Amino acid sequence: MKRIFEIDPWKVTTHKFSTEDKRLQESLTAIGNDYMGMRGNFEEGYSGDSLQGTYLAGVWFPDKTRVGWWKNGYPEYFGKSLNAPSFIGIGITINGEKLDLAKVNFSDFTFSLDMHQGLLSRSFIYEGKGVKVKFEFERFLHITLKEAALIQVKITVLSGNAKIDFDSTLDGTVVNEDSNYDEHFWISRGENAAARTIKVETKANTYKVPRFTVLLKESLRHNGQIIRGDVTTDKAKLSEKFSVNLHEGESYDLEKDVIVVTSRDVKPDEQDEKAAALMKKLQAKSFAENLADHTAVWQKRWDKSDVVIAGDAAAQQGIRFNILQLFMTYYGEDKRLNIGPKGFTGEKYGGATYWDTEAYIIPMYLCVTKPKVTRALLQYRHDQLPGAYHNAKQQGLKGALFPMVTFNGIECHNEWEITFEEIHRNADIPFAIYQYTNYTGDDSYVKNDGMDVLVATSRFWADRVHFSKWRNKYVIHGVTGPNEYENNVNNNWFTNTMARWLLQYTLERLPKASKEAQARVNVSDKEKAKWQDIVDNIYLPEDKKLGIFLQQDDFLDKDIRPASSIPKDQRPINQHWSWDRILRSPFIKQADVLQGIYFLNDRYTKEEKERNFDFYEPLTVHESSLSSCIHSILASELGKKKQAVNFYERTARLDLDNYNNDTVDGLHITSMSGSWLAIVQGFSGMRYDHNQLRFNPFVPDSWDHYSFKINYRGRLIKGYADHKEIKLTLIKGEKLMVTVKDKKLELKEGETTCLKD
Ligand code: BGC
Repeated sequence: MKRIFEIDPWKVTTHKFSTEDKRLQESLTAIGNDYMGMRGNFEEGYSGDSLQGTYLAGVWFPDKTRVGWWKNGYPEYFGKSLNAPSFIGIGITINGEKLDLAKVNFSDFTFSLDMHQGLLSRSFIYEGKGVKVKFEFERFLHITLKEAALIQVKITVLSGNAKIDFDSTLDGTVVNEDSNYDEHFWISRGENAAARTIKVETKANTYKVPRFTVLLKESLRHNGQIIRGDVTTDKAKLSEKFSVNLHEGESYDLEKDVIVVTSRDVKPDEQDEKAAALMKKLQAKSFAENLADHTAVWQKRWDKSDVVIAGDAAAQQGIRFNILQLFMTYYGEDKRLNIGPKGFTGEKYGGATYWDTEAYIIPMYLCVTKPKVTRALLQYRHDQLPGAYHNAKQQGLKGALFPMVTFNGIECHNEWEITFEEIHRNADIPFAIYQYTNYTGDDSYVKNDGMDVLVATSRFWADRVHFSKWRNKYVIHGVTGPNEYENNVNNNWFTNTMARWLLQYTLERLPKASKEAQARVNVSDKEKAKWQDIVDNIYLPEDKKLGIFLQQDDFLDKDIRPASSIPKDQRPINQHWSWDRILRSPFIKQADVLQGIYFLNDRYTKEEKERNFDFYEPLTVHESSLSSCIHSILASELGKKKQAVNFYERTARLDLDNYNNDTVDGLHITSMSGSWLAIVQGFSGMRYDHNQLRFNPFVPDSWDHYSFKINYRGRLIKGYADHKEIKLTLIKGEKLMVTVKDKKLELKEGETTCLKD
């Protein structure tokens, strides 16, 4: 655990700069606008250890697979979110000394991310020979003019005289740190000094993956007037230089405006014109005016989704940081996109699509965005069904297998224990169809395109199970459950349970599907009978004596001991132990049986939940960011309030406090919804099954009160709880019956309904 930013309800600020924590600081100061994003790199450059990272939504490259021993079924490539051309560069030299915080003397350092509007600012005083100069940087990625990045630097000479040389750059010679063969993925497609543009294209590939062309254009302004320096270009690079002489007390401000267009939206031969038009639009307003427009939109987003926590500033900062980062990554405005585990903040996992979206993001986004956003995420998978059929075929199986990692539906993860075995995803992804239908009450998706997904994945499972004559049951061998600290296990309870759920749900929904969908999927009676037989006879391991579901057949053979027995200096175990030791250990990376109990919550009794929680929780090391939130929600339901709060803190501040010592790689974007879920589904106990909205709130002892907002079937509802009362306000929409602590209450528009606790 390491906290390098101060606690503040609306800011992530530090006054310290340590070269050791540079990468961590960069991750935590990442900004985005759901079109592009970047780590908190310094405009003037930095020669010490750093990850210069800029990422453009949906722009990726198929990097040739690298494995030790090839296994049949491996994907040919691993898709990478591309580290895109860097456009923030404003090199600065003061009286001949290059400004580089790894080398120069400086004081009064402040670095701050304002969470109201995703504005990043940084200031410090440079102390050179006979001169002190104050630097103040600000930058943001425009939320309505998505292609625009605005950067401003204000320079004030505090003492002495300073000759400042500027070198504003566009740099397309970037390499992904995680490139398998150290390849450069970008090639130059021409630079234009007069227009201040560079154009780059992704290298040709042999996998029929579309290439991307990106055009970047810069324009500099001083006091609102366009200024033009001397431009030189090199392959995929542009540099614009000019100098100013400043005397003591004088200030100079420079604004760098950037437009980034990609071939996802604009054809390469139309990009120059489009970028020029967008730059004109950007420059019709000043930095301050553009910022005001941008902030107004952020304000609207916050009005609809802010979670207020009184009495615990660290908890408050955590949830706001998570909401901000999520919305900066994805707000559902581009249907072609999805949400990557690292969003725009790093390379490992990057912006690829994982089961994280359906399992963790959708339950929150259903409540904080319009239904069409979730619907688009469901459609995204439907549209990728051809890829999923291909994946199943690769494994020699029928039906469709959704990938663990993808950009286009085709699996691009290449570790056998995940690619071939972590197949639970193929039920978790369709589970989102159920979640959507259940929450919104809209069954038009499941009746039509959703049915294609349900049937295709059911066909996969019906082929992947086999019948054990010895057990007289269907079994599923050779899988990896959500707990990746065990591989090639048999009968992972979670996988078998979710496969069974899927077959059952498909059978239940099939007769209600549209005629067209039924004709399309063409399920025979024989197939239905087989699916029903699997539902009735699949083996779900349990231990009757302990009263628990078994994570997998051999789990109890392990040397069961609590995670608290691991010496502190050996945590996280994935950074200290050999893989062999981890696989044999009883320690669980992330919620597995408990993940199943969370998903299918209404199917288990309180006693079953309690016994499984008490057994598995002590064994769980939560070394996946996706774990603590599930434990928090179940702990809340079981009245284990202290644990619920601890797990909330771990989820909400996972990155801010670097719990798993891996935030240097980037933020854990897809687990950020977990802190929202821990509050709304956990502390407030929200459930929405069987067409009923229910709450069962409690307030953590260390908090005074909390409130949140949800969209529910055309309504906007505010929930509030303190230690004395619970209030529900129907801000907008038709009246609604809800259940709070087993009492039925009617909510009416504009009214607040109270319940004394
Ligand atoms: C987790 C997976 C998850 C992936 C991306 C891994 O560490 O074990 O469940 O999908 O990270 O977040």
